[in-house]
Amino acid sequence: MDAIKMLQGKKILLGVSGSIAAYKAATLIRLLVKEGAEVKVIMTPAAADFITPLTLATLSRNEVPMNISDHSSWNNHVVLGRWADVMVIAPASANTIAKMAQGLCDNLLLAVYLSATCPVIFAPAMDEDMWHHPATRGNVDKLISYGHQQIPIASGELASGLFGEGRMAEPEQIVAWLQQHLPKASNNNKPLRGKTVIVTAGPTIEHIDPVRYISNHSSGKMGIAIAEALADAGANVQLVLGPTSQQTTHNGVTTIRVQTAQEMFDQVTARYPNAAIVVAAAAVADYRPANVADKKIKKGEAQLHIDLEKTPDILRSLGDQKGPQQLLIGFSLETNNEKEYALKKLREKHLDMIVMNSLADAGAGFNYDTNKVTLFDKNGKETSFPLKSKQAVAQDIVSAIIELQHA
Ligand code: C5P
Repeated sequence: MDAIKMLQGKKILLGVSGSIAAYKAATLIRLLVKEGAEVKVIMTPAAADFITPLTLATLSRNEVPMNISDHSSWNNHVVLGRWADVMVIAPASANTIAKMAQGLCDNLLLAVYLSATCPVIFAPAMDEDMWHHPATRGNVDKLISYGHQQIPIASGELASGLFGEGRMAEPEQIVAWLQQHLPKASNNNKPLRGKTVIVTAGPTIEHIDPVRYISNHSSGKMGIAIAEALADAGANVQLVLGPTSQQTTHNGVTTIRVQTAQEMFDQVTARYPNAAIVVAAAAVADYRPANVADKKIKKGEAQLHIDLEKTPDILRSLGDQKGPQQLLIGFSLETNNEKEYALKKLREKHLDMIVMNSLADAGAGFNYDTNKVTLFDKNGKETSFPLKSKQAVAQDIVSAIIELQHA
C-alpha cells in the first residue's frame, strides 16, 4: 500500500512528556503533518522544560494545552480523547509510564489518556537503568496488558553520557512504525463493517422451582469485551447474554437478554442464517432439571434427588448446520487436560477456532478482569498469549477472526 496514504487525514493526538527526547517531538510533528495527518499536541508541564509549547503549536498548527484549566477555561480532556484516531505518547518518560500504569491523572496529558477511547501507542525514553528497573518493566507490561502498543526503544548514546538502551526511537522510525501499525490500531479501520456477528456470553440459569436454580460463576465479562471489540471493528453485533449484572452500552451492540440454555438456543438459532460469524463465549449449563416444580420444594427428607437432563448444545447444533461462509468460534474452559479437550471440541463441533483458557492459570477465568488464552484454529495454528486484560484478549481474538476470514 502507498505509505503516504496510510497517515493521510488521520487524527493523531501527540502526548509529549518530560524527557530530553521531547526536542524530537518537533521533528515528529513536522513529519506527521507532511504525511497528511492532523496533529494535536498536549504536553506535561515537565515537557515544557525541554521544548516550548509555542514551537509545538506552530508546527502542529493547533494550540498546545498543558493544564486541565488554563486561566478561566477548562480543557475538555474527554473531547480531546474522543477526537483522536490514535493517541501517541512520545516521548513517554518513566514517570508518565508509571502514572499511566497506575491510572493517576494529575496533569492534562494523563487525564486525556485515562479518558481516551482510541488506541494508545507509546514510545519510551529514559536512562538505561531506569528502563531496566523492575518497576518500569512491570509498568510497561501493564500498559501492554491494557492493549496499548509500544514503539521499540532504541540503543545508543544517552543524555547521561552512557551508552545503552533507553533512547526514544527517531521521529522517522516512529512515523514508519505508525505507517505499518496504524491501520490495525485505528478506529477508522472497520474490517468487519457490514457483517452480522452473534456473541453468546454469561451464564445460563436452569430453574429447579420458582425460587431456586442451577448456574455457574460466569460473569460474561470476556464475551462482552469480545462483542465490543467486534463492534469496534465495524460488525453489527447481536449479544445474546445470560443473567449477569454486566452490560454494554456500545452502540454497535444489540443485547438480547436470556435466562436458560433453551432460550439462548432459540435466540441464537433464529439469528444464525443472517450471521457471518458466531462467537460462543457463554458458559451454558450442560444439564437442567428434567422437571421444574411449579411450587417451592419444601424441606423434608435428608436427601433430595433432582433428575437432570441435557440442555441443547448450541454450538454443536450451529456446527452441524454451518454454511460455507460462516465462521464459528468456541470457548473451552477446563481444569485439566485442557489442550486435548479443546482440540476435541474444535473437531467435533466443526469450529473454525477455539479459545482455550484454564482455571489452573492464576488471574484467568470467571470474574477476573484478566485472562490468559491459547487459540487453536482449524488449520492447526496454535497461538499462546500472556495474561492480559479481557479487553486486550478480545482484541487478539478479533484479530485472529479477521485473519481467519481472509485465510
Ligand atoms: O463442550 P463444552 O460445553 O465444554 O464447550 C464449550 C463451548 O460450547 C463454549 O463455546 C460454549 O459457549 C459452547 N456451548 C454451547 N451450548 C452448550 C454448551 C456449550 O453453545 N449447551
